[in-house]
Amino acid sequence: MEHSYDAIVLGAGAAGLMCAARAGQRGKRVVVLERAEKPGKKILISGGGRCNFTNIGAGPANYLSSNPHFAKSALARYTSRDFLELVESYGIAWHEKTLGQLFCDGSAKQIVAMLLEECAKGDVTLRCGEEIASVEHGEGFTVTTQTGTYSAPALVIATGGPSIPKMGATGFAYDLARQFGLKVVEPRPALVPLTLGGEEVLFRDISGVSAPVVAKAGKAAFPEAALFTHRGLSGPAILQASSYWRPGEPLLVDFLPDETAEWLLDAKRGSPRTAIKSLLRDRLPARLADILAEKLGLDGDLGSLPDKKLRAGGERLKRWEFRPNGTEGFAKAEVTVGGIATAELSSKTMEAKRIPGLCAIGEAVDVTGWLGGYNFQWAWASGVAAGDAL
Ligand code: FDA
Repeated sequence: MEHSYDAIVLGAGAAGLMCAARAGQRGKRVVVLERAEKPGKKILISGGGRCNFTNIGAGPANYLSSNPHFAKSALARYTSRDFLELVESYGIAWHEKTLGQLFCDGSAKQIVAMLLEECAKGDVTLRCGEEIASVEHGEGFTVTTQTGTYSAPALVIATGGPSIPKMGATGFAYDLARQFGLKVVEPRPALVPLTLGGEEVLFRDISGVSAPVVAKAGKAAFPEAALFTHRGLSGPAILQASSYWRPGEPLLVDFLPDETAEWLLDAKRGSPRTAIKSLLRDRLPARLADILAEKLGLDGDLGSLPDKKLRAGGERLKRWEFRPNGTEGFAKAEVTVGGIATAELSSKTMEAKRIPGLCAIGEAVDVTGWLGGYNFQWAWASGVAAGDAL
C-alpha cells in the first residue's frame, strides 16, 4: 500500500523526532520510519539513564567537523536555552551536574515522552519496526519497507552513526548518502576509551585508579578526570581527547596541572629530606604515584637526586606521552567523528545542495560534539533547522 506525505524522516532518534515534531507542527504531513521496536533508544540509555540533554555553554567551538563553521547557523538559531525552555514547559525537573551539563532529575524517559508528545501535537505518524528495503528518487522520494511504500517530496536522513552496533547502530546513513552521490568524511569512533600496549601495559596494573589531569591530543586540551582501565585509558578527559586523537599520534597527559615543571626543584630546596614517593603520593593516587616514580627512575630523598633529574621528572609529569595503540572502537564509542560531508549540505536547512528535498541531520552529519550534552544539542539544533525548512 502506498502512503504519501510531505516528508519522510528516517530514524526516530533525537534529531529525527525533533525534526518531525517541528515540521508536523507547521502543518506538514510527516511520517517517521524507525527500524527499532521503539523510538529514542540512545536517549533512553544516555547520561546513565538521566540524559545529559544539553550543555548550557554549547557553541561551535565544542564541535569537530571538517568545516568548523558549518554548525554555527543551526546552533545559533536553536540554542541550549531554547531546548531548556521546552523541557521546562513539560515540567521536567533538571539539574546542572558539572561544566554546564544539564540532566533530568528523574529519567531520560521523560525526554523521549516529551519528544513523542511534540510529534503528536504535529500529527506525526511514527512507524517503528520498519526495515527499509529501498530508497528511490524520481520526482520525489519513495521508501519501501516490508509493510508498504512511502512517498514524499522530502526525505530526511536521521539514522545516526555506527557507534554501539549492539544497539542496532549502523552506517546506513552513509550508504544512503553515497547512493545519492554525497561525500562521506571517513567515520571513526569518538568519545571512546584508548588502549595501551607494549611497555605501557604496565598501567593496566592500576586499573580503576583515576586522577584529575589535563589530556591533550592535537590542539585540544581537556582538564578533567582520567581513569586507568584494564585495557588502557578512559574517563572524561581521555574520552574528550580521543575525538581529536589519531592513530600513531601521542596523547599528552599533564598529571600535575597545578604544579610548574620546576616544582620538584622547589620542593628539594624547601625540604630536601622528603622522599620523592611521598611527595608524589601527596598529589596523586598512591598507586599512580608509585608507577610514575618507577617509570621516571625517581627514588629516595629529594636531596639525594640531582637537579637535572628532578627537572626532567617534573617536566615529564606535566607532559606524559602515552602512545595508545588504538581505541576500543565503535563498540564502546559514544559518538562518531566524520559522516555525511557538510560541504554537501546547506548549513541553514541541512538540505543537500545538489538534491533538493534530501536532508541529513544529527550524528549522521560530519559534526561531532564534545562529551557533556553537546551531541544532543546538535541533534536538536540540526533537527529544528531541517524541520523548520521542510
Ligand atoms: P540516534 O542514534 O539517536 O537515532 C538514530 C535512529 O535511527 C535510531 O533510533 C536508530 O534505531 C534509527 N535507525 C538506524 N538505522 C536505521 C534504518 N536503517 N532504518 C530506520 N531507522 C534506523 N549525547 C549527549 O549529548 N548527552 C548524553 O548524555 C549522551 N549519552 C550517550 C550515551 C551513550 C551510551 C551513547 C552511545 C551516546 C550518548 N550520547 C549522548 C550521544 C547521543 O546519543 C547521540 O549523539 C544522539 O543520539 C544522536 O542523535 P541522532 O538522532 O542523530 O541519532
